[in-house]
Amino acid sequence: MRPERTTRDRLRRREDAWDGAGQDPSNVTTTMHDFKVRNGQLYCERVAVDRIADAIGTPVYVYSRHTLIDHFQKLRRAFHRMRPLICFSVKANGSLAILKMLVSQGAGLDIVSGGELYKARRAGCPANRIVYASVGKSRDEIREALRAGIFCFNVESLPELDAINEEAVRLRTKAPVALRINPDVEAHTHRYITTGTAESKFGIQLEQAERLISARGSAFGSTRLLGFHLHIGSQITRSAPFIQAIRRVGNLISRLRKRGIAIEWLNLGGGLGIVYKDERPQTAQAFAEAVVPHLLPLKVKLILEPGRFIVGNAGILVTQVLYRKETPGKRFLVVDAGMSDLIRPALYGAYHEVVPVISDKRQGTSDKRQAYDVVGPICESADVLAKDRRLPALGEGERLAIFGAGAYGFVMASNYNGRRRPAEVLVRGSRWFLIRHRETLNDLVRHETVPSGLLT
Ligand SMILES: Cc1ncc(COP(=O)(O)O)c(C=O)c1O
Repeated sequence: MRPERTTRDRLRRREDAWDGAGQDPSNVTTTMHDFKVRNGQLYCERVAVDRIADAIGTPVYVYSRHTLIDHFQKLRRAFHRMRPLICFSVKANGSLAILKMLVSQGAGLDIVSGGELYKARRAGCPANRIVYASVGKSRDEIREALRAGIFCFNVESLPELDAINEEAVRLRTKAPVALRINPDVEAHTHRYITTGTAESKFGIQLEQAERLISARGSAFGSTRLLGFHLHIGSQITRSAPFIQAIRRVGNLISRLRKRGIAIEWLNLGGGLGIVYKDERPQTAQAFAEAVVPHLLPLKVKLILEPGRFIVGNAGILVTQVLYRKETPGKRFLVVDAGMSDLIRPALYGAYHEVVPVISDKRQGTSDKRQAYDVVGPICESADVLAKDRRLPALGEGERLAIFGAGAYGFVMASNYNGRRRPAEVLVRGSRWFLIRHRETLNDLVRHETVPSGLLT
């Protein structure tokens, strides 16, 4: 067997083990996504990341097209027996280029606002592949979605169901709905991204939904009940909570069917976990093998709403060292990206791997490495991108890549501290494309007015 074949086989085996999860944190040179260190240089697919940063500046988000399409296809293959509609969750990454690429692969989109509906349509997503969740859909947003003819509203409360019905009556149309069930299961993830427990604001209690459907039937006024929606949380690494949720909803479906109420669809939501540090999340294949046997007997059509699984490890944030600063108790690398660009560490205490973009021999030997906090320029103590990381003594102008930044990265960026939101680049093979310009100074004041009446 030729040596490179052996290596490829080894990588393939590891890839099967890690699946969409991404990098092996013990060694970034054997990552399972398309960000790899070769000859001391970090590459995205076949493009040196440093070259992109030279051309575009920093901070900049860099995404790998191959990685995100590969993750989408892995999920599709794993669930092939059920031929699910896979609606990528726009909230994870709303870049038009990324949405368009996924839509062209056959994905639908999961939206949570009129703004995301607009983006979904701009990305060319057929309306019959759009599903719409959110605890607070406004009347305007409901009307817009009805006019667009989306596939389904995922309804989160009874007053919302009434509002959708009223708007459908007004527009003389039928509103397809699924009730988002809060199954009261513990997803074993960060409390800020747990959504399926009794005290969370999301969804309708199962018993309440059953009472409602028993009383009103599946064709309530101008709404038509397609089925149920679940989304129990995010970054879930095991299948057990999903199975528990499926069982609870499955029992409900059986009881309703016995009373002659047809339930056609089940939306399992998103939530599949990925590797940020040393997690061992289930692969798409293992996830499908665990849940499909519980889904098939329900005889439902399936929707999945993955976000993080598809795009999380398909993106990095590239930043540049401004200063190396030492205090008696600490060493800091002050970089030009901060919590305004990537808020996950500040918001969730999230861990992101940090890797030098160029790791020459001087920097690469572990004995020369020291523990640094990688901090941004924002005037908040929470503006720490990475804590106590053993890194080479990088100097001013040297660059770092923050891994696992593809999901809930740019979409949560803000202009706090008068910062312009960063540029975004997408790599395909040996080519790269700017998919979003860095904001200009004028963008910071674009929507402001200073009425002269205020000044005199
Ligand atoms: C209703 C719904 N569906 C799907 C998702 C996507 O979740 P994830 O990115 O964990 O797959 C979310 C995320 O919060 C969500 O609220």
